[in-house]
Amino acid sequence: MADQLTTTDERPLTAEPQVAASGTDTRYWHPFANMAKVRGHELVVVSGKGCEVTDRDGRTYLDATAALWYCNVGYGRSQIVDAVTRQLSALPAYSTFGPYVTDTTLKAAERIADLAPFPDAAVFLTSGGSDAVETAGKLVRSYWSALGQPHKRVIVGRPRAYHGMHAYGTSLAGIPANREDFGDMVADVAHVAEDTVAGVEREIERIGAENVGAFIGEPVIGAGGVVPPPDGYWEGVADLCRRHDILLISDEVICGFGRVGHGFGCQRYGFTPDMITFAKGVTSGYMPLGGVIVSSRLKAPFWEGEGRWFRHGYTYSGHAGACAAALANLDIVESEGLAERVRSLEPTFADAAKSLLDHPLVAEVRTAGLLSGVEFDPELVAANAELANQVVGACRSEGLLTRALGLAAVQISPALVIQSHEIERLFSMLRGALDSVRRTS
Ligand SMILES: Cc1ncc(COP(=O)(O)O)c(C=O)c1O
Repeated sequence: MADQLTTTDERPLTAEPQVAASGTDTRYWHPFANMAKVRGHELVVVSGKGCEVTDRDGRTYLDATAALWYCNVGYGRSQIVDAVTRQLSALPAYSTFGPYVTDTTLKAAERIADLAPFPDAAVFLTSGGSDAVETAGKLVRSYWSALGQPHKRVIVGRPRAYHGMHAYGTSLAGIPANREDFGDMVADVAHVAEDTVAGVEREIERIGAENVGAFIGEPVIGAGGVVPPPDGYWEGVADLCRRHDILLISDEVICGFGRVGHGFGCQRYGFTPDMITFAKGVTSGYMPLGGVIVSSRLKAPFWEGEGRWFRHGYTYSGHAGACAAALANLDIVESEGLAERVRSLEPTFADAAKSLLDHPLVAEVRTAGLLSGVEFDPELVAANAELANQVVGACRSEGLLTRALGLAAVQISPALVIQSHEIERLFSMLRGALDSVRRTS
């Protein structure tokens, strides 16, 4: 089944002619889209408040996915808008290459480093999660070169993993469809065949621990279907990495900043990585920002003694406007106790999600924090590859926005500020959509 997975496979949800609502054809090339199918079927969103967004025709929807897993504090937060406006008026951004930096960049790095579950962390800032993964991948190689072990180059990833779409992320993708077409982009990556501690151990043995630089994984697999780890998985993998002197990267682009009820997913699952990649929830999407939190062990060869160049960075690394958004967003996450809020809402959310298990279309419901993957009966999916997209289309008719995860599941990841009654409404609309697809297919 993993072979069939794509992260998004948005097909047209109606049979209308391919003409945009404005009457003109679109010029926008959508990501993760077949433009021949999407053109003429765009959903143009113009505003948002709390957990809801409104489209160009004035229709309001409950946003089941917090956009692409990121709008954790909800829409319409003037506190963040004001902070960004103040920053852009004073100074939009400045180079942070070499010795240059802005004071807002320094504050954001300090704030994020203080949240790290290990002492004396450093933060390398990027514009998003794919950049963060790319940075982490290059840091692994540079670190082992610095230690005189350049052969420790292989980075091992999990099945169903999503690590963004730059070269490292594409190569590490555990969703095979996301690698198709592109060929080998980064050499020396490996994929675990079986998603267990024993599976990771076998892969390390196959490659030889002396050649393995790092293991990377999402604490809860997101785009691959929302898959929480089996009991003991992360403790076991962390122990393997320690014994074989392999760096551990926790890709927290989705799990970070409260989504699974803790600052970071690694805290929930009881392991300490050497690097944390983050993005999305750090600004709730008010400005694009990502980065890597680096442990003291990893930063040492670069920061101490004679040091070492890390010849890597982006024009907008540490962008002051994005950092201002992060600071204001993290103020909200902290002052409103959003991680604690997720922990207290989790049982209500999980019960509401699992109530769908009695539906004939649904085979499995997986949840962790405010994440859920609702998976359809594999026989029905085998007979109708459009099933997930039909459910997404029916949700839209009900007034609920979600998206397909591959062919077999839909994503539920609302803003962390969602209220209990909105959770009930969300799953009741999803049930209505499932009923309507069942009636018509
Ligand atoms: C775990 C994970 N890593 C990396 C990325 C890539 O982030 P971006 O799309 O910001 O480049 C994503 C995006 O969904 C993700 O879920």
